[in-house]
Amino acid sequence: MARIIAGIGSSHVPAIGAAIDNGKTEEPYWKRVFSGFEKSQEWMRETKPDVAIVVYNDHASAFSVDIIPTFALGCAAEFPPADEGWGPRPVPVVQGHPALASHIAQSVILDEFDLTICNKMEVDHGMTVPMNLLFGQIDKNSHWPCPVIPLAVNVVMYPPPTGHRCFMLGRAIRKAVESFPDDLRVVIFGTGGLSHQISGPRAGLINSKWDKAFLDNLSKDPQKLVKIPHVDYMREAGAEGIEMVMWLIMRGALDDKVDEVYRFYTVPASNTAVGHIILANRPRGAKGSKAPRKPKPAARHKRAAARAKVERIRS
Ligand SMILES: [Fe+2]
Repeated sequence: MARIIAGIGSSHVPAIGAAIDNGKTEEPYWKRVFSGFEKSQEWMRETKPDVAIVVYNDHASAFSVDIIPTFALGCAAEFPPADEGWGPRPVPVVQGHPALASHIAQSVILDEFDLTICNKMEVDHGMTVPMNLLFGQIDKNSHWPCPVIPLAVNVVMYPPPTGHRCFMLGRAIRKAVESFPDDLRVVIFGTGGLSHQISGPRAGLINSKWDKAFLDNLSKDPQKLVKIPHVDYMREAGAEGIEMVMWLIMRGALDDKVDEVYRFYTVPASNTAVGHIILANRPRGAKGSKAPRKPKPAARHKRAAARAKVERIRS
């Protein structure tokens, strides 16, 4: 059986990708950012996941305003880096996992999450920057250390999905992964954010208090986050802060109680806050490691109540 072993939250600031690609990682401004991911890369090398699911948003690279899927799952065998205006990033082509991706698509669609299936898709910095931060800088002619399944979420055009919808999609993804027969250890990334606004009178807005409370709740009390309406993200975390709903897909895919392995937060990178967290599911059987309880369908309750009533009448 496949299972999700950990979730990773990470910003996907495009300037981080530019710093990597232009050899600026040792400059003091950028070293402050990259040094915060050294432990994470060590953790990733030790963890050696078999597959990663990366939840991110496309920035008008694979999709234009002509087509805006709310949730788009990459089921292809490979995903080339997109040309975002300066040529494709010099990173390896992402190898997918079509068998697991197709299985997830079938499972979550039958669970009433109507995903768009992408059998051909280029991926932009939203996905490749967090991969660099966690897997390190890898030669474009080499390979990423594991296959990756992209899940693109619309947070660019109104209306994006709600935090609750994202969290429940995470739950459905978890169920899908756990019904895949191969013995795979899967990690899931939630990317984007944290607080930032890139245009308008509030451009440059960063709200560290909000960001840190979000990270606290993500770790310990995610149910508080699923209730946050879009307007609160806009007001408190800036127009682009809505990207944070993608972290809730990652969190929904984890157990209720998780261990916080690592956290990093710094301001600024470009004009955004950089946030990062690693949350690990506890080994099965460990105290507090129970998987989230599935709500029982109302119909099943009704049938059970009816049966009990019949039994009472008979006795
Ligand atoms: Fe973004």
